[in-house]
Formats: sequence, structure tokens, C-alpha cells
Amino acid sequence: MAQKKIVEIKDLGITYYTLEGETEALKSIDLHIYDNEIIGIVGPSGCGKSTLLSMISGLIQPTRGEIRVKDELVDGPLKNIGYMFQNDQLFEWRNILSNVVIGLEIQGKLDENSMNIAKDMLKAYGLGDFMYSYPHQLSGGMRQRAALIRTLLLEPDLLLLDEPFSALDYQTRLAISDEIGLILKEEKKTAIMVTHDIAEAISLCDRVVILSGRPGTIKEIIDIELTCEGERSPIKCREAPEFRHYFNRIWKELDIHV
Ligand SMILES: Nc1ncnc2c1ncn2[C@@H]1O[C@H](COP(=O)(O)OP(=O)(O)OP(=O)(O)O)[C@@H](O)[C@H]1O
Ligand SMILES: [Mg+2]
Repeated sequence: MAQKKIVEIKDLGITYYTLEGETEALKSIDLHIYDNEIIGIVGPSGCGKSTLLSMISGLIQPTRGEIRVKDELVDGPLKNIGYMFQNDQLFEWRNILSNVVIGLEIQGKLDENSMNIAKDMLKAYGLGDFMYSYPHQLSGGMRQRAALIRTLLLEPDLLLLDEPFSALDYQTRLAISDEIGLILKEEKKTAIMVTHDIAEAISLCDRVVILSGRPGTIKEIIDIELTCEGERSPIKCREAPEFRHYFNRIWKELDIHV
């Protein structure tokens, strides 16, 4: 069976015009993303990764080329998209439960049924005892998990994750990226994740897109196939025999100089 395309990007490019001059941020991007795929985007700072997500969400318009999400041309902000950033953007004055249902509330979809789904999801993902706590009472990883649940409750067709774990310390980051990877697979989500962390991209993603320095172009798209015994958890994937090979390949392509 042919896989369903969720995102189709054709010859996409963007140039920012400011008083200081022009910046060509991205050039000639061609990319297809399929249902249930997790795609990683890596590339040097300033190569246009965040810009690419903003264009897919319809928040900014490309200068050249086009993007289709579920066959529809993106020409304005899309509704059915979940966007997660480095900062979890939880509201400090709302408890966790009322934070995770805020999107439903705004869309007028909050009722007893959706409230129960929210509670079940908080319980399923380890926040059952913290529903009535406030964000400052949670660890960074728990906050990020709450932010993901808030995003998932809106049942987005596509999740855009812009370095969602980069504000966390290393250990929390490992644990939460593992959990979030499993949640995304369990909920059968399609996601595009920007990350600076090569290991995170390999362990979490089905494919990794490597962008060149600005103007960002696609240098290579790598299919990740790891042999993991038992459950394919991102942490276990790091022990797969192929892991190091992918790491070295991406590292070389990124051509990082220190
Ligand atoms: N609103 C804007 N106006 C003008 N230039 C912009 C704007 N947003 C981004 N740029 C420029 O476009 C380029 C790409 O920016 P972008 O934020 O997409 O990069 P990035 O790959 O996400 O970087 P990082 O890894 O540091 O997050 C940069 O040179 C940036 O200065
Ligand atoms: Mg960015």
C-alpha cells in the first residue's frame, strides 16, 4: 500500500527583506512527509530550520515554491497543526489540567467528554498526580510532557517541534525525548522535529534531513533503520549496532568546525 503524503514541499525558498538588506534563508527545498513519520531536521545555526516550520504552519509565506498539507495549498495559518517550542509556554497561573485544555477551550470544544480524555491522557503519561499542581511545581521534563499533551488533545494532523528539549538538562532530555518518542508512535502522529542533537535525531526519527548552511538547502535525507531488540524505545535505539555509523555520517555532512 502506498503511504499517504501529509506534507509536500516543492522547490521552496524564502528571502527575508529587512532595512539592513536581504537574507536568503532557504533555497530549493523539496521534501515529502508521509503519514505516521517522524522527520528530524538538522543543520547549522541560522540555516532556516525554524523558518521552514513556520512556513509549513502557514505563519509565514514562502518567496518561491509551494507547500501542501493534506493536498491543500498552504496560504495562511493552518488550524490543524500542533506547534511545540523550546519553551513550553504553560501559563503559570493555571493548573496543569486547565493548561492542557486551553486549546480546546479556545476552540469551544471543552466539554465533559474532552475533559475526561484530558485527564486520562495526563494519567497515562505520568501526570495524574499533578493535574491540580501549577507549572512551577513540575520539573522541566514534566512541563514539556504537559505541553505535548496540550498539543495532542487538539488532534493535530501534523506536529511541528522546534528544539522541544533543548532547554532541559541532559538526563531529563534523554528521558523525556524517549517518552515523547514513544507517545508520538503510540498516538500514530506525523511529526517534524528540529534538533541540534544528532543522537536525538537518530534515535527518535524515521528519516533525518540534513540542511546546509545558509541559504539552507537539503544536503541529504537519511533513512534510519536501527536493529533494536524488543520495544523500539529511543534510548534502546542508541545501543543499536548501526547507531554510530549514522552518527558519523550526519556529523560529517554537517561539517562542524570548532
Ligand atoms: N523575521 C525575520 N526577518 C529577517 N530575517 C530573519 C527573520 N527570521 C529569520 N531570519 C533570518 O533567516 C535565517 C534563518 O533563520 P532561522 O531562525 O530559520 O534559522 P534556524 O536554522 O532556526 O537557526 P537556529 O538553529 O539558530 O535556531 C537567519 O539568518 C535569520 O537571521
Ligand atoms: Mg531555530
